[in-house]
Amino acid sequence: MATKRGALIVLEGVDKAGKTTQCNKLVSALQQSGRPAEMLRFPDRTTTIGQMISAYLEKKSELEDHTIHLLFSANRWELVPIMKKKLEQGITLVVDRYAFSGVAFTSAKPGFSLDWCKNSDTGLPNPDLVMYLQLSPAQAALRGQFGEERYETSNFQRKVQQKFEQLIQDSSVNWKVRVEEHCVTQ
Ligand code: TYD
Repeated sequence: MATKRGALIVLEGVDKAGKTTQCNKLVSALQQSGRPAEMLRFPDRTTTIGQMISAYLEKKSELEDHTIHLLFSANRWELVPIMKKKLEQGITLVVDRYAFSGVAFTSAKPGFSLDWCKNSDTGLPNPDLVMYLQLSPAQAALRGQFGEERYETSNFQRKVQQKFEQLIQDSSVNWKVRVEEHCVTQ
């Protein structure tokens, strides 16, 4: 009998929404119920492209805005063969950020349309489910200071959140929105 394909499950949200915690919990729950599952995260900072992205996020290098967008996208594409292989082997992939982060973060910068931002990710494996962890700016503030990396300011995160709110209107994507109210996850 052919192996059942694994599911591609993506978690998205602004910084501090608790994505990594929830990804870990989901992988454990799936494994405990006897379903093979693994976690992936984007950016994958371990590859050559990922190291360029990491240096940019850590403000150790400067990159033009279109260039960094395309690098984030290339970082997803370089993982596609391995993702497809695992899915075909029946492994469910739980992914911490995907193309939706790519679009939300770049389109929060001036001069970028959603359409332009979506282009470079067109054709990536389609997620079966995208969970959006919604976090109000007030709740985010309660979770303490942002770190030192690029994009970690309340002002920019508010813009990113607005972009995510636009993206979750797309009914061709299987979005599930979870409102993070009182649970402390980080
Ligand atoms: P990440 O390593 O997931 O850090 P965090 O722990 O803050 O979630 O993501 C690093 C940053 O990169 C985060 O601010 C979101 C941003 N990002 C993009 O701008 N474009 C992308 O395509 C992705 C995947 C992330």
